[in-house]
Amino acid sequence: MTALKATAIANSNIALVKYWGKRDERLLLPANSSISVTLDDLYTTTTVEFGGKRRADRIQLDGRELLGEERTRVVRHLDLVRKLAGIKGKARVESKNNFPTAAGLASSASGFCALSLAASAAAGMGLDARNLSILSRLGSGSASRSVYGGFVEWVKGHQRDGSDSCAVQLADETHWKDFRLVTTIVTSTKKKISSRAGMRETVKTSPLYKTWLETIDPDLKAIRKGIRQRNLTQVGEIAEVNCLKMHATMMTTTPRVLYWQPATMEVIRSVVDWRASGERCWFTIDGGPNVKVLCRAKDARRLARKLEGLKGVKKAIVCKPGQGARLSFKHLF
Ligand code: DP6
Repeated sequence: MTALKATAIANSNIALVKYWGKRDERLLLPANSSISVTLDDLYTTTTVEFGGKRRADRIQLDGRELLGEERTRVVRHLDLVRKLAGIKGKARVESKNNFPTAAGLASSASGFCALSLAASAAAGMGLDARNLSILSRLGSGSASRSVYGGFVEWVKGHQRDGSDSCAVQLADETHWKDFRLVTTIVTSTKKKISSRAGMRETVKTSPLYKTWLETIDPDLKAIRKGIRQRNLTQVGEIAEVNCLKMHATMMTTTPRVLYWQPATMEVIRSVVDWRASGERCWFTIDGGPNVKVLCRAKDARRLARKLEGLKGVKKAIVCKPGQGARLSFKHLF
């Protein structure tokens, strides 16, 4: 078979109302809907080529050969694409993040979205956005949202086969020009507990999980309205409390799912204190120690410098709402 090659770029996304917990582990169906913003400055580029004379899939991320569980997840996803496309060839995959992998900067979201688009295009599938979102979801839940730019809702769906569990765009990347998210990096080491394992244990053991689910619908409604009206106070307040609720369910899981480092608390404390003295800023944190700060465009650079002035913060990156996943002609090999 002749080699079939495609390259895709997918941006990372950060949830404002988080996805935490599945109702189906195999199909990666979430227990709750979630809302995110796709970011312009954090992205993954992936080239996939099927065919040639390869005997096994060859997968590299940032120049390193993937092994173990990480490799298995990608091979399984390639198997799914091969099955859907009716092809057999082994693949060469090269992927590059422009940010540290697995440090809570949502590398699996951009990673599995870029892989899904590159692999499905290389296999000649030509998926529409809805089906690309479903395919991406089957790699990693949060990847379903990176298909679209701007503000995105992953609708949990009700069908048992997952055919209605996919993302929809709430507003594109031009809708809210004044919105910024400053990502701080407090550590770039790989986290010990993956989101997948962490959320599985939370669903099983946290006494707060039921309450988490009960409060999701009002949070979704308020964030949708805040985004529509470009109301930073509303979006910031809801995002901050929603993230604290998610971390409360993690912290009350057996065994504990504790992602925070001392520097995480240092940023949280600073954001809350700065707000009390008049700054317009709110925080959110994913499954990792790094804190993201929501703010206005005119405050973003100054806040990034203040954040970089904190002892535990290595770097602060200012992001705008970014575009959805797309194909590129610049192959990585
Ligand atoms: C805390 O999408 O990485 O970032 O579906 O098991 O691959 P899997 O999990 P993943 O979980 C992301 C969790 C989160 C919140 C969010 O992005 O909504």
